[in-house]
Amino acid sequence: MQTSSLGTSDLQVTPLTLGTMTFGKEADEATSHALLDAYVAAGGNVIDTADVYSAGLSEEIIGRWLKGSGKRDDVLIATKARFAMAKGGPRGLHPDYLRGAIEDNLRRLDIDTIDLFQPHAFDPNVPVAEWLGLIKEFVDQGKIRHLGVSNFLSYQLQQTLDVAKYEGLPTVVSLQPQYNLLDRHIDYEVMDVCKNHNIPLLPWSPLGGGWLSGKYERDSVPTGATRLGEDPSRGVEAYDKRNTERTFAILDVVKDIAADHGASMAQVSLAWLIQHPQVGSVILGARTTEQLADNLGAAQVELSTEQWERLEDVSRPHTPDYPYGFVDTMGGR
Ligand SMILES: NC(=O)c1ccc[n+]([C@@H]2O[C@H](COP(=O)([O-])OP(=O)(O)OC[C@H]3O[C@@H](n4cnc5c(N)ncnc54)[C@H](OP(=O)(O)O)[C@@H]3O)[C@@H](O)[C@H]2O)c1
Repeated sequence: MQTSSLGTSDLQVTPLTLGTMTFGKEADEATSHALLDAYVAAGGNVIDTADVYSAGLSEEIIGRWLKGSGKRDDVLIATKARFAMAKGGPRGLHPDYLRGAIEDNLRRLDIDTIDLFQPHAFDPNVPVAEWLGLIKEFVDQGKIRHLGVSNFLSYQLQQTLDVAKYEGLPTVVSLQPQYNLLDRHIDYEVMDVCKNHNIPLLPWSPLGGGWLSGKYERDSVPTGATRLGEDPSRGVEAYDKRNTERTFAILDVVKDIAADHGASMAQVSLAWLIQHPQVGSVILGARTTEQLADNLGAAQVELSTEQWERLEDVSRPHTPDYPYGFVDTMGGR
């Protein structure tokens, strides 16, 4: 896989990142290590995790793999903190909490430096300068190389960029949002902030939690060893929320284009993201090495401009009359 610069940072990243939310949960340690081996063998160089994935186990599994494989210098480690590790426990971006959470990231991963630290979400209760000041301390100590953010709204991202600029604090080099053919709500506002400031996206749930592989059907509630088979009401991908005419209209186009390429639906859905001009690296999710092999194959699928635009058109989110439609009539966006 080729690498390219991640926005304004000095990080060179491959177009596909390995997400590790399944580690220690759907994928046991041996499978997780096999996923890491296969990803690196395919040329990938970014591993994304978070403190809360399997309550710390995902980071520990990665830490043991880094030690055992001797590959620390071949990969970039992106992680996150901000959410409670146990229900009702401490959380947030206040330095009193975040300092310990980042030290815990480092300890579990068993590394000296986090290449990309990402607050898992904004914290409206803590002034931006306070937590950015803490990030600066970690950067000065060589414990963090760059700051990314995740799940920030447009005003939160812009506010963070402004405070960083005017207070001389570390700035944001990437945004990790949910972004896929089934959910493009960041197109309303967040995307414009990213374009204006050269902030690449690291999209999470690129397959919409599995939906874009085409494995879920209109008329049968999922069962068996799939994310929604195990829990149909799980998260943003819940069966009742995504089982809509809109979802299946998008899946029909994905299927059509997949047939043209002799590719899987997952590969076409991922290729649309890889070829998106604002995307820096797509964060793959997998439970098995077979799924990962399928998803890594997306790097070989080149959509034509016409195919890319067909997917763009069918997945474009509805523009509400107000404020976006109203402002659009005046050329205001
Ligand atoms: N920042 C955040 O708030 C946030 C939130 C979520 C995720 N993330 C990051 O993004 C990564 C990816 O998210 P995600 O796991 O939701 O991604 P996803 O690609 O939308 O979903 C991955 C799941 O889809 C199924 N799948 C994957 N490839 C498949 C294939 N080729 N064919 C059929 N099924 C396939 C597997 O689930 P089953 O086999 O169980 O069906 C797999 O666990 C995570 O690992 C994490 O690093 C970040």
